[in-house]
Amino acid sequence: MAFVKKRRIDATDNRYNHLNVTINKRGHESVARRCKRQLIFTQIKSKDNSNGIKDFKLLSDPKWVERFISGEIDSSYYASDNSQNVVDFMSSRSIDNKGLQKAAQLPQEFGTRHLLANKLLREKHFPFESFNKVFSSQWLNDQQVVFGTKCNKLVVLDVLKNKTHLIPTLKSSPNRSFPDNPCGIHAIEINPSRTLLATGGHNPKDVAVYRLPTLDPLYVGERAHDDWIFDMKWLDDQFLVSGSRDSSLALWRFEDNPQEKRQMSASMVPEYFHTKPLLVKECRTAEKIRAVLYNQKSEEVAILSLNAHIHLFDSQTLNQKFSKPLPFCLENVCLSQQSDRNIYAVGSKSHVTILDTNTLNSIHKVSSNSQVRSLSFCNELLTIGTGDGLVMFFDIRAMKYLESDGRQSILKTSKGCFYPEEIFNDLYLQYEYSPAIYTHQYDSSKTRLFTAGGPLPAVYNYYHLFSNANHYHKSQVLRLMSTKVKFMANIEEEVQNQFEEGLKYRGHCGRRSVTTVSLPSKLELAANRVINKYNGKAFKEDVRDMFERVFDHQLPAEPQEVLHKTQEIRDRIAAKDKIDLKSLSIEERDEVIAKRQRKLERSLKDALLNHQPIEYNDYSSVVYMTARLPPNYAALHSIFNEIRKDLPDFSPRTLFDFGSGVGTTIWAANQVWLKGFDEYFCVDICSEMNELSRLLLQGGEEHKKMLYDPVFYRQYLPVSHTIQYDLVVSAFSLLDIPDAKNRIHVIENLWHKTQDVLVVAEHGSRAGFAAVLEARNLILQLSGHNVTAHFVHNPNNTHLSTVQHTTDATIVAPCPHDLTCPRQSSKGPVLCNFEVTYNPLRFGQQNAVVGKERYSYVVFRKGKQQQPELKGWPRIVQPVLTSRRKAICRFCCSDGQLKEVIITPSNHDRHTYRCARTSRWGDRFPAQIVERPPNEDTVE
Ligand SMILES: C[S@@+](CC[C@H](N)C(=O)[O-])C[C@H]1O[C@@H](n2cnc3c(N)ncnc32)[C@H](O)[C@@H]1O
Repeated sequence: MAFVKKRRIDATDNRYNHLNVTINKRGHESVARRCKRQLIFTQIKSKDNSNGIKDFKLLSDPKWVERFISGEIDSSYYASDNSQNVVDFMSSRSIDNKGLQKAAQLPQEFGTRHLLANKLLREKHFPFESFNKVFSSQWLNDQQVVFGTKCNKLVVLDVLKNKTHLIPTLKSSPNRSFPDNPCGIHAIEINPSRTLLATGGHNPKDVAVYRLPTLDPLYVGERAHDDWIFDMKWLDDQFLVSGSRDSSLALWRFEDNPQEKRQMSASMVPEYFHTKPLLVKECRTAEKIRAVLYNQKSEEVAILSLNAHIHLFDSQTLNQKFSKPLPFCLENVCLSQQSDRNIYAVGSKSHVTILDTNTLNSIHKVSSNSQVRSLSFCNELLTIGTGDGLVMFFDIRAMKYLESDGRQSILKTSKGCFYPEEIFNDLYLQYEYSPAIYTHQYDSSKTRLFTAGGPLPAVYNYYHLFSNANHYHKSQVLRLMSTKVKFMANIEEEVQNQFEEGLKYRGHCGRRSVTTVSLPSKLELAANRVINKYNGKAFKEDVRDMFERVFDHQLPAEPQEVLHKTQEIRDRIAAKDKIDLKSLSIEERDEVIAKRQRKLERSLKDALLNHQPIEYNDYSSVVYMTARLPPNYAALHSIFNEIRKDLPDFSPRTLFDFGSGVGTTIWAANQVWLKGFDEYFCVDICSEMNELSRLLLQGGEEHKKMLYDPVFYRQYLPVSHTIQYDLVVSAFSLLDIPDAKNRIHVIENLWHKTQDVLVVAEHGSRAGFAAVLEARNLILQLSGHNVTAHFVHNPNNTHLSTVQHTTDATIVAPCPHDLTCPRQSSKGPVLCNFEVTYNPLRFGQQNAVVGKERYSYVVFRKGKQQQPELKGWPRIVQPVLTSRRKAICRFCCSDGQLKEVIITPSNHDRHTYRCARTSRWGDRFPAQIVERPPNEDTVE
């Protein structure tokens, strides 16, 4: 949990009296002290400046502040001034003075931007171990936040006094059954006039409503849903819509002054009403409703579902209007809206997608390094809470991440503390994680941000292994958790000397990241000649769709997976319609079975859509080329460039390209190894692709001579391995192969055809990395290395038992070791990818924006060669996080471990610190990573 430190100035508002808020005089003084430091900014022009000479009053003057708060000074004093002063503005917000807020005519997010730009936000951590993950939250006033937890507790946190109060959850009628796997309070919503608070009940299927500000229980809304409520939204002060995991949507009416006389039970706890929904509707195309929004302008309810669809409903009738699939299919879990711009933002595993509220078309895709878990708009500023404890800020106006000092503004939360019941599992797994930010909320001044959550993985199923857990004392366990091994980077002496002699920090020989990559001019010209024949709106849309489809492409579903999915959907459909077939006549039964079958086919098609291979023909090959040539080229260029640096002795003469498509590999290889090649051998099953590749080499004009030759095109992989090639490449092709067995066969075949170096590259998506990891494990096993191989789709039978051991293999890049990949896990791999920026094909636009491409790859060399000049230097596997006097680098090290090193000028020498600050994701760091002796443990 993180909380931005900021003291209240005032709480005289009698709305808060019941909450025991005291006016804090010391608070005024501390504000004054703080403001004094900023004197230089805080001069505010006085209104009675009649003689034209500028007379300034200081808002930082404590007396002035107090006079203002006490009402002695009229807010109109400032109102005519239209001050653009940030302290004026922020102080006005803090003291909740509407007149002064109006005076500072700045957008609401101004203060937030200012705080971020000047790195003024500081974290305050609330260490409470008695709550499991926090899923939802709301500010009740400027001192208290209410939050809901996975362990089904509703808690009010006083952020000034660091105290929590448990609010009793409201029980449903005795006959209401609990869902199979109750999972806490996922939503808390306050109505527009702040008189009612709605949240999940004691039974997570039901809604509980409390009166504000007293938090008296008022209603339990029940009998709408059969599974947890995931989200709810107020339509106005009385009407509420809730969405559930069972894909149903319910409309409720809750009045804050119920007619019936309120009873007091014997325990003096006010009794509350049990009420039914006005309407319940099923969202036809949804699988598990995850988030709900109310769009006041269009009077529509927008629903986000876990099968990657967004749906619109009429808010009056709850009739479904239409649904649209989302471009990214994994973990679409949060939704937010910006009504002025008519946009929705959807957070998924790897992106935030910005959608038009009317058409639901995607307008922009914001890539994110980690899973997006919470989203909110503060005017034009989109705040993104991620799965690894980061808060990022995306500027909707500029369509880029907010920056400070030329770097992305990011807030990183501390690790938090552990719920006792989960500690032992985590200790056992030695799992290192940051807490996911499941919820974040700005206070009304938009200058404080409450964030909360917990570790991303679901509760591990290891309870039973630790039945003696209670024998440990809690504090002992927490101490164990905190003795995390700390590492430091010892930069190589030779490199230190080079820096002393004037070598630029970014010029060291581990540097691998490249600047923005452009297509060679001849290739761009040829591609534009081809595209010119197709220009048109439909073509542009097809290009956009192809771009998204390719990145979303999943590994084809294995037969067991299809069977499993079919059974799962079949069971769900039967459970939903609740029809007992035995009680029906034959005709009725046939009708129900046919209906269920249609539903099954539809759902299965949706579920497996991204698993299907993309089919290429004349037209779709050109569409693919337009969408993917520049990013594919940039990724390959960057990989080849790295090989040239890593293996200066490698000078390939022959090239074998599997799944050669439009021939990107040939072009990229020729830009890196300038001597050219004696032979190119391209295998692509699609003859139209081969034709297009040839046409590009002819400069886009048929019958012209090819730029590089001889190029041999084949549709099938030659079975014989008698001819080997210096450089063998499979780029972005493995996901098109129908199953694991065939993929393994292809990789084995390619390895046999390799004389020297084999490159396997895929998109930096989860599926792409899984395919690369599969290839990595296979070749290491083929060459006698003992690696643990997990395969996502085929965990039991890896097909590896049949493979023959061959010559030795060494990984050239990106791994600095030939050991088991530290990113692979039995639950599926955690991404290892890299990024390159590229100039897209202009394709009608004058100022096409620079694109970013993520890719995963592995480069093997035959034999036991070492790379002596790199000495096992670690690889930077995530973006380097820098803040004032600190650089956090995440390394994959030569001992096969992932290590995080926090490099500051106080715990490292100046060369290491500066070198870390200028290093980039993908670079080799010229240092050895060693454990830091405990006595050198400095506070960071
Ligand atoms: C996504 S494209 C990649 C093109 C190219 N490597 C690039 O980097 O731009 C994948 C290519 O693999 C080809 N392909 C799919 N299955 C194949 C197979 N079994 N044998 C050969 N080529 C195949 C497809 O026809 C398609 O052209």
